Amino acid sequence: MNNYKKDFTILRNNPELTYLDSTASSLTPDSVVEKINEYYKNYRANIARGVYKTSEQATEEYEKTRQKVANFINAAEKEIVFTSGTTMSLNMIAYGLSNLVGENNNIVTTAMEHHANFIPWQQLAKNKEAEFRVTNIDKQGRLDLNDLKNKVDKNTKILTFTYVSNVLGTINPVKEIIQEVKKINPEIITVVDAAQASPHLKLDVKNLDCDFLAFSGHKMLGPTGVGVLYGKIEKLKLLKPIFTGGEMISEVTCQASTFAELPHRLEAGTPNIAGAIAFKESLKYLKKVGFENIQKHEQKLVKYTFEKMKNEFGDDVKIFGPEKVEEHSGSISFTFKKYHPHDIAAILDQEKNVCIRVGMHCAMPLHREFLNVHATARLSVYLYNDKNDIDKFIEGLKRIEEILG
Ligand SMILES: Cc1ncc(COP(=O)(O)O)c(C=O)c1O
Repeated sequence: MNNYKKDFTILRNNPELTYLDSTASSLTPDSVVEKINEYYKNYRANIARGVYKTSEQATEEYEKTRQKVANFINAAEKEIVFTSGTTMSLNMIAYGLSNLVGENNNIVTTAMEHHANFIPWQQLAKNKEAEFRVTNIDKQGRLDLNDLKNKVDKNTKILTFTYVSNVLGTINPVKEIIQEVKKINPEIITVVDAAQASPHLKLDVKNLDCDFLAFSGHKMLGPTGVGVLYGKIEKLKLLKPIFTGGEMISEVTCQASTFAELPHRLEAGTPNIAGAIAFKESLKYLKKVGFENIQKHEQKLVKYTFEKMKNEFGDDVKIFGPEKVEEHSGSISFTFKKYHPHDIAAILDQEKNVCIRVGMHCAMPLHREFLNVHATARLSVYLYNDKNDIDKFIEGLKRIEEILG
């Protein structure tokens, strides 16, 4: 793997910084930052409104990203809706589908969901007096596929689940799950949270055959505040727009309003124009590096981390998620018998300038009700990390032993 650190000013300017928190948000290469600047410096105008050249250029750049995203996930352009991120996409799907859910229905999700793919559905079920079913995980943090199949029945309106867990690193067999649940209930609507898959795995929505899929730009080298809601066109038509206003309408009179065609009917108001425009540069960057290379590189680092942690700390450390490296993405959550996760993160930062995440990682039901811990520490690796970063992390953990005993 090349040294990608050189493409990131933040890493060039801070050689002492060890960033191991890309699951929360990735760093952004200079080409993406330059594209944001290009918009603000050269064609700063609103989109889809002006009839002047500057606005037309901004609109063209914005729509080019839609094209790029569509190609990137093997979808059609009109199936791509820009949002502020995965959270907004999933909320738009949940509220948009609310008219279809009744008290005889159930909604199925899993124990390993981020709150963004848990609470909107829990709220929807509650409001509609529908049942909310949560699929179990096994001891290694893999989805219990038998439990999932048992939870899905003819009354299941929606199955919503994550492609990759932000805590356990588990990579779920999305295609197989969708095939299996459709055998039980061909009418089921399937929603995939791809927030942790899109930075690391090649996505192909046609191959997965999911009805909806959501992801965020900021986790895949892109700007913050831009995300994607993908839906099969006939499924997007089912979504009631939850935001109404400018640019999403066809006709408005004092009596009634009609809405624009997809995808614009789901994009009310002025969006994150600079973010969406620059997002295509991150897709370009990811394509250039290649997902095969990214995955190989991350697996090497995960393997190295597993070995180092086990060799140095033995049974004092507990690592969550699948033991097999091929089943484990770049997020590694762990606890130490003797140290509180918050102390671990604070000392790593203070002593070694190593950034990791600590807490429940927006997955409270997973931590409290399935892992039975109050918090975990989590390091996560991405394409710009290398073995030196892991070595520094391990040195930091040893320093904790020296400081706290
Ligand atoms: C699996 C998963 N889903 C959803 C989200 C929410 O993403 P965002 O905060 O970009 O909306 C995250 C963020 O960490 C995540 O890891």
